[in-house]
Amino acid sequence: MDEASILNAYRRYARNYNRFFGKIFEQGRRQVVRYMNCQPGDRTLDVGIGTGLSLNFYPKDTLVVGIDISPEMLAMAREAIHRSDSRNVCLSLMDAQKLCFPDDTFDKVAAMYVASVVPDPQSMIAEIKRVCKPDGDIFILNHFSNGHLLPKMIEKIFAPFENVIGFRPHFPLDHFIDNAALKVVSLSQVNLFGYWTLIHAKNEEPDSNRIAS
Ligand SMILES: C[S@@+](CC[C@H](N)C(=O)[O-])C[C@H]1O[C@@H](n2cnc3c(N)ncnc32)[C@H](O)[C@@H]1O
Repeated sequence: MDEASILNAYRRYARNYNRFFGKIFEQGRRQVVRYMNCQPGDRTLDVGIGTGLSLNFYPKDTLVVGIDISPEMLAMAREAIHRSDSRNVCLSLMDAQKLCFPDDTFDKVAAMYVASVVPDPQSMIAEIKRVCKPDGDIFILNHFSNGHLLPKMIEKIFAPFENVIGFRPHFPLDHFIDNAALKVVSLSQVNLFGYWTLIHAKNEEPDSNRIAS
């Protein structure tokens, strides 16, 4: 997966994204925001917010900052915000692997269906940990390879085309959690056949996240 392929893929998807990936992934988005248990005044970051489908579920008194690398996906999110007259949402064109926020900015950070899309998921997680407050909550929702026969066959078929389809079909959960060094609170299965996993993790103390300079 490289950045140019991702930008191309989501440029192509943007107009029809909600039609194809709206309902089918809705349960997961709803569950993430439910688990976030947003309190008035909370600052939340939605990484790879895409067309803004998760925005339907955040309370109006929570500040939501959404970032995405695709201008076309963000343009769709902006249209949605304009239509719903939301005032609690800020959107920004940004790379999840190089977030332009100070350390410890957010109470809660979510990345929905993004981890298997970014070129370097570990950099994304490192950045999420950096901008999330110590002991803040991190939510990663994604499909992960689960070893079941049918999904495994589908992953194998699509693996050579990851640059075209815009996500990595083969994405093992244990590998991801180990590399990301996530302090996992819970794992839940969501969406169709429970084939997607919602990871809720607690952010570690700052010293364990930051590389000494
Ligand atoms: C499958 S979509 C998920 C969108 C949204 N979270 C949802 O629930 O529908 C993946 C999103 O990740 C974005 N993305 C991919 N690489 C990114 C990066 N490096 N930084 C920020 N966003 C990225 C894509 O542009 C796309 O909008």
